[in-house]
Formats: sequence, structure tokens, C-alpha cells
Amino acid sequence: MSTTGEALALVDLDEDGIDRAFRTQVLDGLAQPHKAVPARWFYDEEGSRLFEEITRLPEYYPTRAEVEILEGRRADFARLIAPGQVVVEFGSGSSLKTPLLLGSIDAAAYVPLDISGDFLRASAAELAGKFPGLPIHPVEADFMKPVVLPAAVAGRSKLGFFPGSTIGNMVAPTAVDLLRSMRETLGEGAQLLIGMDLIKDPAVLEAAYDDAAGVTAAFNLNLARRINRELDGTIPIAKLRHVACWNDTWARIEMHLEATEEIAFEVSGRRFTMAQGETIHTENSHKFDRRSQYTLLLAGGWTPVARWLDREERFSLLLAEATPPRNAP
Ligand code: AVI
Repeated sequence: MSTTGEALALVDLDEDGIDRAFRTQVLDGLAQPHKAVPARWFYDEEGSRLFEEITRLPEYYPTRAEVEILEGRRADFARLIAPGQVVVEFGSGSSLKTPLLLGSIDAAAYVPLDISGDFLRASAAELAGKFPGLPIHPVEADFMKPVVLPAAVAGRSKLGFFPGSTIGNMVAPTAVDLLRSMRETLGEGAQLLIGMDLIKDPAVLEAAYDDAAGVTAAFNLNLARRINRELDGTIPIAKLRHVACWNDTWARIEMHLEATEEIAFEVSGRRFTMAQGETIHTENSHKFDRRSQYTLLLAGGWTPVARWLDREERFSLLLAEATPPRNAP
């Protein structure tokens, strides 16, 4: 493999080796009138393992539906995605989805961006084995902000790849900021292939986020376990239950940890209480329709070019361009 990239220390650890942002965001979030902890903290080693397990659950359709689109639309990608582009993936890369895309288009190089160097190196090495001739330039970076890409890919046009509907885990202002950052990272004229989950029967959505085997519940509760382990927490895990509910106003599945009785606990020496039924809000997963997708993309500086759905119309993949929106005909 031919790889380049800088090993920058992006995570700021305290003297105990704990991510300072984790401590601050948990303490701030638990002190709010409506307790909330950002979903990014789900993904420690156990959380990442549980998420992989979620993607294979019978109820969790997004991964299978997106793979179906990636497999079935190869000819469309080959036609609409310009050859010789550098594929820039936002996130460390999915062992399932990235090879499907790279196998369908004529990419000049692959640049995975991720804040976690370990995930990044592992997925870059795996990809290099599958595409021996493809230059791979992993970059350790927080892609929520504009990223300077390696000099080796300067001057080439770019295709951003952001599968999985991870954009749905952000509230609208954050999602728009991210799309704008992506545009700045990729440059004028770039293309973006982005996955977005669709609004559907709430029963289907709630089952996808509260599966019968309890894997999503374990994923949600693992956040409380992580807080206990890393931040000297005393959260009584057995007195919390996983809740996934459809919020129709905001078109999103919300995940919460609900206290089954009144509890008190400490985190990093600070005391918190929860009344029975009170929750810690841990994740939003927004779902979209065509209009809300186009509005979001346009607000982020991307003009929609094509949109594909899986056979059961549960999930969508969109192609957009960093060009000014065309005027009405
Ligand atoms: C990563 N993200 C797109 C997942 C989702 O569907 O919102 C995270 C997830 N949370 C529970 N299940 C899956």
C-alpha cells in the first residue's frame, strides 16, 4: 500500500488518560435541566463492537438497504461520478461499503478521514489489501471542521463519501455546518455521495432502535458503563432502562436512558439525581424525505444531482455537487 498522513495528537487526555472533552461534556450534559450526553461518546471499544453487531440485526435495516443500493447502482455511479477523482471518506471506512464504491468507480486515490488513528490505520490496511494499486492517504483529523488534505492529492477533483446516515445523528445547524466544512475540504466542483435514512412507519423505526435481542439497549447502557469506568461514576446501571421513541415533530428517533426509580449518583466527584421516569437523552437519529434532504444539502452548499432508494424504499443515497444551485427552469 502507498499511504501517507500525519499522526497528530487530536485527543486531549488528562493525567489519568481520560479524554478531557468526554469529562467536560458528560458533566455539563448531566447538569442540564434535560440531561443529555452527546452520542459521539458511545464509541469506545465496546460501543464500536456493539454498533457493528447492530448493523447485522434483523430489525436494523439501514446497513443492508444502503449496501443494496451500492451493489445495485454500480452502473449509475460509473456514469455520474467523474473518473479519476480522489475518494475522501468521512469516517474510518466501512469494510462493507467502501470496497463496493471503490469497485464501481475509477478512483485516483482514497483518503479516509477519522479522529481515531487506530480505526483509521486498521481500515486503511484492510482496504489496501483489497485494492493493491490504489494510493491510500489516511488522515487523522476531526472532519467536523475543514481538513487540509495531503499534498499528494492536491489539484485533483474530489468525491466525498459519507454513508450510514451519520448526518442524521446531528441537529440541523450542526449538519449544515458539517456539509459546509465538507465543501471547504473538498473544494468547488467536488461531488458528495451521502447516505440518509428515510421517514417511515414509526413501528419499523422503533424496532430498529430497540431490537428484540437487546443489542441496542446494551449499546445505549454501555455509555453509562463508560461514564462509571472512566469518570469514577456510580450510576446504578440496573436502575436505567433503554428507551427508543419516534419524535414526529423533529422527524427523529430519540434514544434515552430512563431511571426506573429515583436515583442519586456521582460522576467525577459531582452529585446528580434523577427522578423516576427522568431520562438522559443520548442520541438523535433524524430521518428525512426528499424535500428535507434537498433543503439540507442546499443549505450546506451542495446541489442534489441524483437520488437512489433500496427496493423497499427504506433508505436513500444521494449524489450532490459543490456547485451553485441551478435556477428554476
Ligand atoms: C451511526 N448512526 C448512523 C446510527 C443510527 O442509526 O443513527 C447509530 C445507532 N444508534 C442506534 N443504532 C444505531
